[in-house]
Amino acid sequence: MVRGDDSAGGYDRAFCAEGVGDVFARTVAELDPGLPAGVEPYSFLSSHLLACVSRALALVSGDVLVDLGCGRGGPGLWLARQAEAHLIGVDFSSVAVTHASRRAAQAPDRRGRSARFRQGDLAATGLPDAVADALVSIDALHFPADRAAAVGEVWRVLRPGGRLVLTGWHPVGIGDERLPERHRGTDWPASLTAAGFTVVDCATDAAWDRTFRAVYTAALAHGDPGGDAALAGLQDEARRLLPAAHLLRRVLVTAAR
Ligand SMILES: C[S@@+](CC[C@H](N)C(=O)[O-])C[C@H]1O[C@@H](n2cnc3c(N)ncnc32)[C@H](O)[C@@H]1O
Repeated sequence: MVRGDDSAGGYDRAFCAEGVGDVFARTVAELDPGLPAGVEPYSFLSSHLLACVSRALALVSGDVLVDLGCGRGGPGLWLARQAEAHLIGVDFSSVAVTHASRRAAQAPDRRGRSARFRQGDLAATGLPDAVADALVSIDALHFPADRAAAVGEVWRVLRPGGRLVLTGWHPVGIGDERLPERHRGTDWPASLTAAGFTVVDCATDAAWDRTFRAVYTAALAHGDPGGDAALAGLQDEARRLLPAAHLLRRVLVTAAR
């Protein structure tokens, strides 16, 4: 997924009240009523994919889960709460971190401890070495320009034996020039293996691909956005990306450090 402006400031605008983040979460929820309330992703997360992420993480009570590119925090909070794990979310958007902190404070976990969210880059989180028992990144780890640095950061932050679960996209044909540059060469198993990870699984599912396309199709089906700048932005993105969507496959990658 490529947005018009992938800088921290661009995401700050997306996450403002009635920004594209709200339109996105609303559209995903309309398409998938099974998505738990409050998850409100700014990603192509379905209830099925969320359940698969949860299973792959295999969290146990008391684990520390780090969510890289946590956005407004809903998916990471849901995953952590399912297992009574402690959540640390990292995102470079200050608006996202503010939203996420507020969301966590409104509903502290069952042990009375709130999750923590901090501003940081995916390639330089500022977190201590080996702090995470598990690390999740939903539709975010492909963003840093230096992907190897981001993978190195995941390695540093995960404890030995810890698990990484990420969602993203693989090109159907490596190097396909019709695709946005950031997706053309993506091969997560190769990148992770090169960094020392053991890749446990790289799953695809046609239903995840359908969700990805359906969100854009639903945004376009709204028709004239009128004065709704957020919907107009999402429709622009859909017009740019939908034609190449069939050249990408959603992937759920699980790796062990
Ligand atoms: C597609 S959104 C996914 C958000 C969240 N994981 C979810 O499912 O709702 C990608 C997130 O990654 C963050 N992000 C992108 N590039 C980043 C970077 N270099 N460092 C930190 N965060 C980044 C954005 O601010 C955004 O919140």
